[in-house]
Amino acid sequence: MKLWGGRFEKPVNEIAEEFGASIPFDRRLYREDIAGSKAHARMLAKQGIISNEDAEKIVAGLERIQARIEKGEFEFRLDREDIHLNIEAELAADIGEAAGRLHTGRSRNDQVALDFRLYVCRTIGQAVERILRLQETLVRLAEKWEGVIMPGYTHLQRAQPVLLSHHLLAYFEMFQRDAGRFSDSYARTDVSPLGSGALAGVPYPLDREYVAEQLGMSAVSRNSMDSVSDRDFVVEYMAAAALCAVHLSRFAEEIILWSTGEFGFIELDDSYSTGSSIMPQKKNPDMAELVRGKTGRVIGHLTAILVTLKGLPLSYNKDMQEDKEGFFDASDTLLTSLTVFEGMIATMRIKAENMAKGAEGSFATATDLADYLVGKGLPFRQAHEVVGKLVRYAIEQGKTFSGLSLAEFKQFSSLFEEAALKITPETSMAARNTYGGTAPGQVKNAIAASKTLLEDTRQWLSGIGVPV
Ligand code: ARG
Repeated sequence: MKLWGGRFEKPVNEIAEEFGASIPFDRRLYREDIAGSKAHARMLAKQGIISNEDAEKIVAGLERIQARIEKGEFEFRLDREDIHLNIEAELAADIGEAAGRLHTGRSRNDQVALDFRLYVCRTIGQAVERILRLQETLVRLAEKWEGVIMPGYTHLQRAQPVLLSHHLLAYFEMFQRDAGRFSDSYARTDVSPLGSGALAGVPYPLDREYVAEQLGMSAVSRNSMDSVSDRDFVVEYMAAAALCAVHLSRFAEEIILWSTGEFGFIELDDSYSTGSSIMPQKKNPDMAELVRGKTGRVIGHLTAILVTLKGLPLSYNKDMQEDKEGFFDASDTLLTSLTVFEGMIATMRIKAENMAKGAEGSFATATDLADYLVGKGLPFRQAHEVVGKLVRYAIEQGKTFSGLSLAEFKQFSSLFEEAALKITPETSMAARNTYGGTAPGQVKNAIAASKTLLEDTRQWLSGIGVPV
């Protein structure tokens, strides 16, 4: 017998029952469902809507169910449709009539909205914690490899010399924004919809704030119809996750390039690489490739939830049950990607000599030569032209700047003096001393500033109960 079976004469078709059931995936919400039910039962008793005795029976019964679930002794039944009805039916089997009073002043519509909000809040904490670990590693590596020079690229063409630490800290910034997006969305997710009922509110004197307080939620929702139909918090999580995955994917792409024979900038540790079943020499960056590849899934789930919601009238519609599987997959994928990626970069070896060679032998100091001529009074556009011709000449001679004599320099401009020959990747970087630039002093400051930001994140995490 279904918990809602009163008005029905015939049982549900077997395929329809399976099609409609969410228990295969929403069982993951059991903890939140039980926490929400306990808070609701205690509030009902406090308000005199049910007796204290019934509330105590309900709470104790729910705790027994939680213990059984965690021991793997709970049978999740498809014919009981979802996590809410599975738990309620078991509670009835355990404590009898009192269980039937739990759902007073509540609908599965506000119940599932509450459960999912609590679950997403917890998942946000996990995402921010993993992002924090990755950022900590980036800062540690930026310190460890302080002074390592590499070519910076635009259009994937060598452009200007930069510090490897500066390059790594660029990713720190992306992940900092990701952590910010997650924590911003937390504030809008951490709102209790319970008490909204099916859609219109409930005819009992509920204390909605008391429920929210017991659950550690910061606020109660303002409009009952919005409360049961809003899944913006899922979209926000997915959008933050998709962008974070995109950042990981861009980084993964660089790791893949850097580990090629052509770049030769890094070597991944054996523990994060795989071989080929046919080519004995191969060492493949599978983890980076998978992180890049799985990003497609996360982006796909964002699109899916947006499309699911776009045509829905108020208020609850069963379509909304489709909010969960994509979310679980996206969040699981993001969390493991962050973890694997952190381990992969923490253990990789860098080939500083190859990076330095790439910065030296590539005309990456051409802008500095132009700036040198500007210092001698030449307008920048003319200086650009002179150095462009100098580069073409050097290429024809099969040389780089360091292989040219002062006489050769002077063929292009009489303004060139000895000092022009002393321009190196080091002097180039040192000159880029604007705030946020790659000059070593700036990068040092950036490392210190990053540590302060990480401390803020740790504080935020402990504020929402995540131990760090
Ligand atoms: N399993 C449902 C979901 O995930 C719970 C809410 C069901 N509400 C309803 N009116 N059928 O959306």
